[in-house]
Amino acid sequence: MNVVMISPGYPVEMAYFTQGLAAAGATVIGVGDQAPTAVPQPAREALAHYMQVHSLADGDAVAAAVRAIARHVHLDLVECLWEPYMLLAARLREELGLPGLTIRQTMPFRDKELMKAVLDEAGLRTPGHHSSDTVAGVWAAAERLGYPLIVKPIAGAGSADTYRADSPADLDAILPMVRHVPQVIVEEFIDGEEFTYDTVCAGGQVLFENICWYRPRPLLTKLHEWMSPVIVSLRDLDAPDLQPGRALGAATLKALGFRDGFTHMEWYRKADGEVVFGEIGARPPGGRMVDAMNYATDADLFAGWAEAITRGRMSQPVQRHYNAGIIFKRAEGAGRITGYSGLDRLMAEFGEYVAAIDLLPVGAPRRDWRAR
Ligand SMILES: Nc1ncnc2c1ncn2[C@@H]1O[C@H](COP(=O)(O)OP(=O)(O)O)[C@@H](O)[C@H]1O
Ligand SMILES: [Mg+2]
Repeated sequence: MNVVMISPGYPVEMAYFTQGLAAAGATVIGVGDQAPTAVPQPAREALAHYMQVHSLADGDAVAAAVRAIARHVHLDLVECLWEPYMLLAARLREELGLPGLTIRQTMPFRDKELMKAVLDEAGLRTPGHHSSDTVAGVWAAAERLGYPLIVKPIAGAGSADTYRADSPADLDAILPMVRHVPQVIVEEFIDGEEFTYDTVCAGGQVLFENICWYRPRPLLTKLHEWMSPVIVSLRDLDAPDLQPGRALGAATLKALGFRDGFTHMEWYRKADGEVVFGEIGARPPGGRMVDAMNYATDADLFAGWAEAITRGRMSQPVQRHYNAGIIFKRAEGAGRITGYSGLDRLMAEFGEYVAAIDLLPVGAPRRDWRAR
């Protein structure tokens, strides 16, 4: 099989999906805007060919490059697991007559209003919502929905430009901060715990399921720098209090007609047990969550995804012996990392349970904690 992988080396986990494709027996052709030498080693080794474009945002240029490839080799699949270029991949599939998500099928995974409209139609519980591209429209939506509410971009990511308003005064203060966002969605605020529902599917069948638990809610970790966000990939998916979320997840995939590949959905569980849809992407989660799932299941989902999309099955065993958590420790202060403290004590106490440690080297600039 000849597979075009868009952005095969960025973000960093793409390199492992690229490697998975080659391991599944595919001939992988990478198209990306990284210089060939900047493509991480696991991807570089896996690529039969790499075509650098000046920018993936230039859809016409990418389409021309892929058409040029298609004149030389028969292409079977175009894959993209990075959110900003999902629609580009859909366009290329349509132009080349390849299977997989079309533009129309991709839109509900990108547009937070559209995705909820599809689910509402299917009778699934979404937060009350209304999208708008004018200030007057936001006020009208707030009037209809009541407070507290959430204002966020219709196609956002990483909780960027996402705000909670408890009153008209709050909303008044928020509006200038979202003025640069072309279209916002105003939503009923759902108070509760936050979980994911992630799958690998083939032929419309769920081959692999996962639930992660965000601690605390991403909106909170976005507000408070001192928090160390924790994501736990849960061992026991049969726990009774997870079943409503799992059922919502399966029903969501059905409503959207999803067939092949990775999905990443978020859902809320209220104190009274009611579960509410959050959002969904037709791609794996970022933030090292696929690593957490791999540790939790003793599986290799990079390879598992690749086998699913190229052969329609996932043959490796998935075992559920562990909860696997990731703790994102944030640096204190600004500038460069000067040192670490407390790790020795942690390792002395919990070392036997620590599967991996990934710290920025001393001297590196600290990460922008608001960026994720
Ligand atoms: N309707 C809502 N009710 C409560 N919290 C919300 C709502 N919408 C968003 N949030 C909070 O904001 C975070 C980011 O919103 P989300 O829709 O997941 O967008 P993103 O694509 O940025 O992850 C969520 O994880 C949640 O904590
Ligand atoms: Mg989210």
